[in-house]
Amino acid sequence: MPNDSRPAVLELIGNTPLVRVSRFDTGPCTLFLKLESQNPGGSIKDRIGLAMIDAAERDGRLKPGGTIVEATAGNTGLGLALVGRAKGYRVVLVVPDKMSTEKVLHLKAMGAEVHITRSDVGKGHADYYQDVAARLAREIPDAFFADQFNNPHNPLAHECSTAPEIWAQTQHDVDAIVVGVGSAGTLTGLTRFFKRVQPDLEMVLADPVGSVMAEYSRSGTLGAPGSWAVEGIGEDFIPSITDLSSVRHAYSISDEESFDHARQLLRKEGILGGSSTGTLLAAALRYCREQTEPKRVVSFVCDTGTRYLSKVYNDQWMSDQGLLQSKRYGDLRDLIARRFEDGRVISVGPDDTLLTAFQRMRLADVSQLPVLEDGKRLVGVIDESDILLNVQSGDAHFRMTVTCAMTDKLQTLAPDASRAQLEAVLDRGLVAIIADASGFHGLITRVDMLNHLRRTLA
Ligand SMILES: Cc1ncc(COP(=O)(O)O)c(C=O)c1O
Repeated sequence: MPNDSRPAVLELIGNTPLVRVSRFDTGPCTLFLKLESQNPGGSIKDRIGLAMIDAAERDGRLKPGGTIVEATAGNTGLGLALVGRAKGYRVVLVVPDKMSTEKVLHLKAMGAEVHITRSDVGKGHADYYQDVAARLAREIPDAFFADQFNNPHNPLAHECSTAPEIWAQTQHDVDAIVVGVGSAGTLTGLTRFFKRVQPDLEMVLADPVGSVMAEYSRSGTLGAPGSWAVEGIGEDFIPSITDLSSVRHAYSISDEESFDHARQLLRKEGILGGSSTGTLLAAALRYCREQTEPKRVVSFVCDTGTRYLSKVYNDQWMSDQGLLQSKRYGDLRDLIARRFEDGRVISVGPDDTLLTAFQRMRLADVSQLPVLEDGKRLVGVIDESDILLNVQSGDAHFRMTVTCAMTDKLQTLAPDASRAQLEAVLDRGLVAIIADASGFHGLITRVDMLNHLRRTLA
């Protein structure tokens, strides 16, 4: 059996396809997307994972048996883990806690060690992910700190692979490239290459609202950073490798617009991208529509949307975050996370078993379920403690029916009940059942109340 020192899959990094956007209004322009999601690790960061490890091996900073340490929003970690683990290195990654569960699970499945840190603190704070990674790199013997924010092989990877690929794929005919900035490796690498071959090319910045990058590129002033939910791009500082000299336009894109564009891209073009792809697409479309002459524009699908299925592509998560607007009533129905009228209620029937109820709760990540007869008439509510009590006592255990374990003495609140009445129910540790003569509308739990307060008080 062959045992090459370099796994063959690494040959698949780069040379990603370029596809034309055909179902959006691009004004007088032609817009192309480079599908970085097609890299074996699922993102543009495979390129720098490979480049930074190869360079560290060449210059002796990474030796056999050594450890690769990095601060990462996930994708660089996946690139480093893909290359590093295949080559037999230990990989230790520090990831901010807003990153999607899918990325963290993927990293762990590859054998990387993941340290989760706070995403609500900035540079200089002891828990800031880059500072934690730097500290670990000092503490672990034979550690190589990949340090994408300062590593020259990050922009070099894009200068030597991403940029010449775009140049060849557009037949040397491209007017603008729309990029986001995380470490600034992509922006800087592309800028350096195109300055040599096409100095008039405009770099266009796609930046999340809350990031300091767009304003800095426009005015040179560093504003106060905010927060944003898009992953992988946007910064609260200017990375040392940043080259903004070709940036001619910068667009600040809200989370709502980013997520909406990612979802539209899937529905209209069949392309499943991550949250930042929505930011890039939104900015690229704005740029294209503002042009008065035809231009050829390139942007990126930076990573695969499969790692955001629980977020961007999950209606429940989107509405919990206030990113998906549903009908407003001006009463308690506005606080219901899963409304009956929207077909979003997760329920059980009275004849279902406790096993079914338990599995449904776990799948939907809820602690209680309404019990609906014929799928519509509310006859009870069952929660985790009802299940626990009954599987431990009777002989039927999980085979017992819901009707024997549920609470059927229901106190309901009408949609027009007051906030104080709702709070009184929640304060007693109960879930509020919203119903009136027209039927059952949904449940309000303490988590729903917290989500509502976060949306409205933020
Ligand atoms: C998910 C994601 N990661 C990384 C990048 C590029 O970041 P960097 O500036 O680190 O090259 C982008 C760019 O749009 C991105 O969307």
